[in-house]
Amino acid sequence: MTSEQRFQRHDMDAILGGRRMRRNRRADWTRRLVRETVLTVDDLIWPIFLVDGDGVRQPVPSMPGVERYSVDQAVIEAEKAAALGIPAIALFPFTEPTLRDLSGSESLNPDNLVCRACRAIKAAVPEIGLITDVALDPYTSHGHDGVMDGHVILNDESVALLVRQALNQAAAGADVIAPSDMMDGRVGAIRDSLDTAGFDDVQIMAYSAKYASAFYGPFRDAIGTSKTLVGDKRTYQMDFANSDEALREVELDIAEGADMIMVKPGLPYLDIVRRVKDNFAMPTFAYQVSGEYAMIRAAEQNGWIDGERAMVESLWAFKRAGADGILTYFAPFVAPLLKR
Ligand code: PBG
Repeated sequence: MTSEQRFQRHDMDAILGGRRMRRNRRADWTRRLVRETVLTVDDLIWPIFLVDGDGVRQPVPSMPGVERYSVDQAVIEAEKAAALGIPAIALFPFTEPTLRDLSGSESLNPDNLVCRACRAIKAAVPEIGLITDVALDPYTSHGHDGVMDGHVILNDESVALLVRQALNQAAAGADVIAPSDMMDGRVGAIRDSLDTAGFDDVQIMAYSAKYASAFYGPFRDAIGTSKTLVGDKRTYQMDFANSDEALREVELDIAEGADMIMVKPGLPYLDIVRRVKDNFAMPTFAYQVSGEYAMIRAAEQNGWIDGERAMVESLWAFKRAGADGILTYFAPFVAPLLKR
């Protein structure tokens, strides 16, 4: 040993004083023992896209591995999801363009795609939780989540329609109503109307802190609004520069009767997930949105990252940040790898 090496070793002992963090990491058994968080299938909610027809499975090009399903195929997929132990699925329709109009009236049709899917899935797979999105964007010709007057998205007029949409979904068998529209007061109005109509068991998962995000791009391809959207959604979705404001949004939604809280998008907003969980101790969910899914798939397809490992790591990060569960398009891909 040269005097130089001896010096470095003695120096490290003095610095560490016997404290070596790597001891607990030296083998798989000890890493498992000291692991702080766990990801299981119980943490997963699978968002699926619906399309009209029979026997139809349409790949979504900007979301490799994701397809739109006609109702019969969605039933098959719900059966598979239940068999994998996935607790719940969330439904999103691609509405035929001819059915879209200025006020999104198809959202109130008791036989619209989402309602038909609810009834079929409830009948075939009663054990899986059914979450339906409340917002007008899949049904409006302008792609906005509410009704428009000139370039203004009207709040109270939109809430009146969103309430009727929520009742329509509850009547079709939805277990959880998930308002994603970001209008003020919609959670309270929906809770009130559900209770009055006898749906007091129907839960509300509020998209409370939903940001105006570029990461929704592939989703808008999937439901067919990316080319039709007029302007952007920044007068109702949140500014990505803000964090305190998210806490105020969450506080209001809890006061209005939300059973569960959601933060969206996911990975770039884990600081918000942590603050929400620490401040309110509510069941807190995060949505790993379409653009986040697409980025991992695209890098995987280019051979730039190990897609499977990136998928698992990204989902685990949500748990570490305090999320109770994750809405993720990876659900059917990750579930077989996880313990129940
Ligand atoms: C619409 C809605 C959006 C998403 C869920 N519900 C898009 C938007 O607000 O434009 C995004 C989901 C995703 O990107 O995966 N109310």
